[in-house]
Amino acid sequence: RAEVVSMDAKHPDKEAIKRAGQILQNGGLVAFPTETVYGLGGNALDPRASMKIYAAKGRPSDNPLIIHIADMSSLPKIVSEIPAKAQLLAEKFWPGPLTMILPKAEIVPGETTGGLDSVAVRFPSDLIAQELIKAAGGFVAAPSANTSGRPSPTRAEHVEEDLGDAIDMILDGGQVGIGLESTIVDFTEDIPVVLRPGYISLEMLQEILGEVRMDRGLLITDSSVHPKAPGMKYRHYAPKADLAVVEGNTEQVIAYINRMTEEAVSQGRRVGIIATDETSALYKNGVVRSIGSREDEETIAHHLYEVLRDFDGDGVSAIYSEAFYTPRMGQAIMNRLLKAAGHKIINVQEEQE
Ligand code: TXA
Ligand code: MG
Repeated sequence: RAEVVSMDAKHPDKEAIKRAGQILQNGGLVAFPTETVYGLGGNALDPRASMKIYAAKGRPSDNPLIIHIADMSSLPKIVSEIPAKAQLLAEKFWPGPLTMILPKAEIVPGETTGGLDSVAVRFPSDLIAQELIKAAGGFVAAPSANTSGRPSPTRAEHVEEDLGDAIDMILDGGQVGIGLESTIVDFTEDIPVVLRPGYISLEMLQEILGEVRMDRGLLITDSSVHPKAPGMKYRHYAPKADLAVVEGNTEQVIAYINRMTEEAVSQGRRVGIIATDETSALYKNGVVRSIGSREDEETIAHHLYEVLRDFDGDGVSAIYSEAFYTPRMGQAIMNRLLKAAGHKIINVQEEQE
């Protein structure tokens, strides 16, 4: 069973991190906090470590991993080319919640990139993550530290729940800051493309780069158009219960969800509701969880995965969620929520026509 070591996120435990680095250098697996979500780390340049990561997560091995670095000078060692625009973004957002897809260098094993000739790279800002990467020799492959298909972990307890039996060590730095995975920008085409929205929004990228596109596979729900990031095509972040997102004007949304829960309760089923501070008192039945205030979209992003996970312990058979088209992070929040719902969205305005 994994050893769990707790530490202050601002003052990493040097001794424990040195041991964790040793584990990684010897081909083992260590989970660690980042500013986005917890990562499951292995030595990125060791093909066997990458295979172990896929096995521990139950993840298909054609779904590539992100290589985490802790130093700008590490970048040219694992990519064969750094376009000027990628350099600009790195200067602006690294260390931080940004992943860039670049052509890979020879030294990066195909196991780490799922057989692709490009590689995903990120320089996280979390201090524990940075110290661990350095202690491991500079290149740590890390997907989110959840069992494949479950919500990404935002606390060490979530990692223990999913992977406690499959890995060597967990560094517990408390709750993460952002709570949604990094923004992924692909530089292997002429115009930079967002493959996964995150804390850094399309508008923030456009301000620096000019033209930036969203991956078509993210915008279209047509199943014949696949997202370019292999990981974005799976139903993901998903709770055990069936989740549906209800959109429309607030009063109609509340009325609809109340009607549906009442019906379920009368049939003896338990239903979960993802509400906000503004609305949670207005739901009459079911297990109601507030995700935060509509005035504070960062809190909504921060709580999303935890709320989804918490419903797994409640034995609910269905969950209804309000929609969260918030100004800056709405794109990222709705992307994750709709994936968790398998794109099941109910528009109550249409319903009533
Ligand atoms: O915030 C994050 O990015 C977290 C923390 C731990 O850093 N990591 C994370 O990793 O979310 P993961 O493996 O759960 O998601 C990586 C995504 C997947 O959708 C994968 O398909 C995509 O990045 N990806 C990785 N390499 C790629 C490549 N060369 N081309 C296209 N997509 C790639
Ligand atoms: Mg993931």
